[in-house]
Amino acid sequence: MALTLTIRAPDDAHLHLRDGTSLMYTVAASAKSFKRAVVMPNLVPPITCVDTAHAYRERIQQACPPSSSFTPLMTLYLTDQTTPEIIDAAAASKHILAIKLYPAGATTNAHAGVTRLDLLMPVLERMAEHQLPLLMHGEVTDPDVDIFDREAVFIERVLQPLRQAIPELPLVMEHITTADAVAFCQAQAGRFAATVTPHHLIYQRNDMLVGGIRPHLYCLPILKRRVDQDALVRAVISGDPRFFLGTDSAPHARHSKESACGCAGVFNAPVAMEVYTHVFEEHNALDRLENFCSRYAAEFYQLPCNTDTLTLVREPWIVPGQMDYGNQDTLIPMLAGQQLNWKVHHG
Ligand code: DOR
Ligand code: ZN
Repeated sequence: MALTLTIRAPDDAHLHLRDGTSLMYTVAASAKSFKRAVVMPNLVPPITCVDTAHAYRERIQQACPPSSSFTPLMTLYLTDQTTPEIIDAAAASKHILAIKLYPAGATTNAHAGVTRLDLLMPVLERMAEHQLPLLMHGEVTDPDVDIFDREAVFIERVLQPLRQAIPELPLVMEHITTADAVAFCQAQAGRFAATVTPHHLIYQRNDMLVGGIRPHLYCLPILKRRVDQDALVRAVISGDPRFFLGTDSAPHARHSKESACGCAGVFNAPVAMEVYTHVFEEHNALDRLENFCSRYAAEFYQLPCNTDTLTLVREPWIVPGQMDYGNQDTLIPMLAGQQLNWKVHHG
C-alpha cells in the first residue's frame, strides 16, 4: 500500500488569484490543496478600499468549485493615498486581514504602490493601533541597487527603521529569498514573520540562468544564490513559527512569460503542497511539515486552525506540461512535465 501522510488542512498565506475569467482556473487550483488563502490585492486597478475588497471576495467565492469550502482572506493595497480612515474601515471588516506594501514599481502591478513610506506614518501607526498586519514586498526599487541586492537593501533602508519607529506594528516579510532575510527574521520578537515559497526552496539562480534562460522561473524577488536557498530550507525545517507557508503562486499566460520582456511570477498552485512535502521529506523533517503549512500562519493572524485534513500519497506522477487558462491561453505550472513523488489525494 502507498505511504500516506495526513495533516491538518493547510493555509496559503500569500496567493495571487487575478480576476475575471482567470478565477475559474486559479481558485480551483488552490482549493485542491488549501483551505484558506491570503489573497494579494495587485489587480488592475488595485484593491485599495474595503468595498472593492468585499466585491472581489464575492467574485472569488463564486468561482469556488461546488465541492470546496475555500475561504479567501482579503488584503488592501497600500498607496500614497491610503488614509487612517481606510485603515479603520479595514480593521472593522471581518474579511480583511492585512494591508500589502508594494514599493512603487517593485513588481507585477506595483506601479500604484508606495513612493514614500515615511509619509504614511499616520497610516502605519493606525494599523499598529488596530494590530492590522503590514505585508511587505521587501525590495527597494532604487535603480542604482542591483536586482540581487534589493531585498538586503530593503531590510537596511526600510525595514529596520520601520521596526524601530513602530515596534508594535505586526509585519510579514513576504516571499523571503536571502540568508539576510532569514537572519533578520530570526532576530525579531513579537508579531513578525516571513513567508517562504516552494520555488525559493527548490531553486537558485543557476537553475534559471545556466544552460539557457528559463522564463517560467523568473519571479520577484528574483531567485538568489545556493547559500540563500540553503538558509531558507534550514529556516522552514527548523520548526520556527516565524516562518510559514506562502506560495506566491502568480499566474501569467504562457505568451507573457515566454516573451522578450517576460512577466515575473511562478504558477505553482498545482504542485505547491507536493513540493513543500518533498523538501521536508528530503531533510527528514516531515514531522514539522504540518506546523509550517497549517498552524503558524493561523497563529500569526490569530485565526482558528482548520479542523479538517489533507492527505498526501507517496505516489509518483508527472506534472502536466500546460494547463488551460481560458481564452485559448495556457499556464505553465512549476515543474511542468517533471516527476513528483508526493501527490495530494483528492476525494
Ligand atoms: O514574481 C512575482 N509575481 N512577484 C510578485 O511580487 C508579484 C507576482 C505577480 O503578481 O505576478
Ligand atoms: Zn506575491
